[in-house]
Amino acid sequence: MVGHRAPLRPLFAMTSLPSNTNILTPSSSELLNIVTRFASDLGTMTDLTTLGSRIIQELCHAGATTHGTLFLLDREHECYRRANMVGPVASTLIPPALAVSHSLPRYLLATNRIMTQADSAADLQETDSGASARTAMESMQATRIVPHLNKGRLIAFSLLGATQPLAEENTLTRSLLAALAQTATNALDTIVLYEDLHRSHTLIKRTDRLKSLETIAGGFAHEIRNPLTSIKTFIQLAPERKDDPQFIQEFSKVVLDDVYRIERLIQEILDYARYMEPKLTDEDFNDLVASCLYFIDVKADSHGIKIEKELASDLPRVMLDRQQIKQVLLNLLLNAMDSMARAGGRLRVQTRKLVKPGGKVWAHIEIEDTGEGIQDTNLEHIFDPFFTTKHESGEHEGTGLGLTIVHQIIQEHHGEIRVKSSAGIGTTFFVSLPALPA
Ligand SMILES: Nc1ncnc2c1ncn2[C@@H]1O[C@H](COP(=O)(O)OP(=O)(O)OP(=O)(O)O)[C@@H](O)[C@H]1O
Ligand SMILES: [Mg+2]
Repeated sequence: MVGHRAPLRPLFAMTSLPSNTNILTPSSSELLNIVTRFASDLGTMTDLTTLGSRIIQELCHAGATTHGTLFLLDREHECYRRANMVGPVASTLIPPALAVSHSLPRYLLATNRIMTQADSAADLQETDSGASARTAMESMQATRIVPHLNKGRLIAFSLLGATQPLAEENTLTRSLLAALAQTATNALDTIVLYEDLHRSHTLIKRTDRLKSLETIAGGFAHEIRNPLTSIKTFIQLAPERKDDPQFIQEFSKVVLDDVYRIERLIQEILDYARYMEPKLTDEDFNDLVASCLYFIDVKADSHGIKIEKELASDLPRVMLDRQQIKQVLLNLLLNAMDSMARAGGRLRVQTRKLVKPGGKVWAHIEIEDTGEGIQDTNLEHIFDPFFTTKHESGEHEGTGLGLTIVHQIIQEHHGEIRVKSSAGIGTTFFVSLPALPA
């Protein structure tokens, strides 16, 4: 899989106030409207840029100011970044970022109240950072700075510019700003948490992958040691045994098999390591199943395996990568055939539409065989890289990467895979893929 990054957020988004925005002090009913509308709109916003832009617009509107800027905490770089700007303000006045240790955020964090131009010098001297916070406020031509503090963390702050000459500061405006600020803070906190969760999820996936590549590298070294030893022995002995045709003939066959084995291992590891993001297309899953069954038909027949096919006519369509899902189906079908290679049996392949609790629809397939089954102690290892019971014996020598790859592909398709098996009776694999909405 090629690592993919979350799209970069623009450094800041510039918005202009709607032309009909009344920047005079809003009436009390208007104020109430602003809060109600804002609170109800929040639920529909799912990204920080839209939310940030809306917050700063509403605060400017409520505070009757001509311009404003929202700064958002960037924890990784320990600073507050200019995220959204509204109204006519020279961006040179407002720095692109302020360090977390800057006096302004420190002051806001310590006081958790809206800073205004009218704050008395005594108010500001309550904390060490007060006076320099005031200087910063003036240099950015702000008349108010609204902190967005949640559970003791300053997650953002909004800088509001000059008020209109007619606009007057009153208690109502201040309470409104405080109410809007708190609502905005809660919404910001939720989205920031959500984005953090998303980032952690991507990180976990990447770490999981690195971990399995590590296992694979170790397994590969282990797996090729034996064939390499036999190749080496042959090369060492060949000069003195070159006149022994039986030795040359038999040993070269063994060596060739070993070379094939190494080749196959390399190919499977490359398949896994070069794994790409699936290229999803809208597909008829039954079609794909039928073409895989066609592929194994002759082989099944020659091993006394009877194929029973039940493909549901109401199977929903699925977004999938054809090549990858084909690889999944063939891996499962070939495993089932291997398990019945000695004694023959029955291979039942059934697709059906599955509606899970909550109403989510899936395309589901069951691949059931009457083969030798999987021992309980092996069941929890079958998806591990290099786990195989097909050493030398049986139909073919396995590498044990088949089900590892199957699992990875199903995960990337946001699907599910389960297995049920009884030694001596048979095995069933269940795979579900999320269906396209009807
Ligand atoms: N249908 C099945 N019946 C019985 N055992 C199974 C079945 N499917 C998987 N297994 C067990 O799980 C092991 C791992 O399967 P996996 O497909 O990963 O590797 P493999 O088939 O051994 O080798 P290959 O890499 O060539 O596929 C198998 O060796 C076998 O023991
Ligand atoms: Mg296999």
